[in-house]
Amino acid sequence: MRFLVTAGPTREPIDPVRYISNRSSGKMGYAIADAALAGGHDVTLISGPVNLAPPINAKFVSVSTSDEMFDAAHRHADKCDACVLCAAVADYKPAEISLTKIKKRGDKFSLELIPTRDILNSLGQRHDRQFLLVGFAAETNEVEENAANKLHEKNCDIIIANDVSSRISGMESELNEVTILFRTGERQKISRAPKKIIARELVKIFENSATKMFDKKNVTISERS
Ligand code: CTP
Repeated sequence: MRFLVTAGPTREPIDPVRYISNRSSGKMGYAIADAALAGGHDVTLISGPVNLAPPINAKFVSVSTSDEMFDAAHRHADKCDACVLCAAVADYKPAEISLTKIKKRGDKFSLELIPTRDILNSLGQRHDRQFLLVGFAAETNEVEENAANKLHEKNCDIIIANDVSSRISGMESELNEVTILFRTGERQKISRAPKKIIARELVKIFENSATKMFDKKNVTISERS
């Protein structure tokens, strides 16, 4: 199978020296890319800026902004059987990027932000979609309810919900614990474990779901290659 994986944060520039970003380490996405490669799959990894070495044997696409990640994901998605969007894409970006360093002035400073484009949603709404679409839902409260809403709103096949309020699992941590929500309404939990172990389980689930999806459409994965 051919996997597309997005990982890490995006950086939304404010001026030549500042940006808006988040705490995503990229570990979960990189672990999924590694697990898919170990399972004998082809992997394209689209990554925001992280402190991790790109997996050997993956096609690696380095991006910085949400717009770059959006374009790269759309460029590669149709060549893939499963798109796993693990990246913590910024939801907002500055309305304007200052070409010069913004100088300190006065007491208060406000910055106008505008929404970024939602990559998962835009892939989910594509009528010609031929790939399994997997999203992640990083939540701090009402985790499963919020994740179920994202699954339907963004029209994906699977959403992986994780609670990022805990300091022992989730963002920046080596550990994670997730609930997998399927479009069919089924739910499955993977209890706290190293991200590498969780990734191995997730890749097996993606393999099964993609196979079922292509069986239904009467297309084999090798025919698509
Ligand atoms: N996502 C995306 N493009 C964006 C924002 C999010 O593709 N501009 C994807 C993420 O990669 C993830 C999923 O959408 O797979 C959910 O991301 P999350 O940050 O949990 O949710 P949001 O949709 O941004 O909603 P909120 O921040 O309100 O929870």
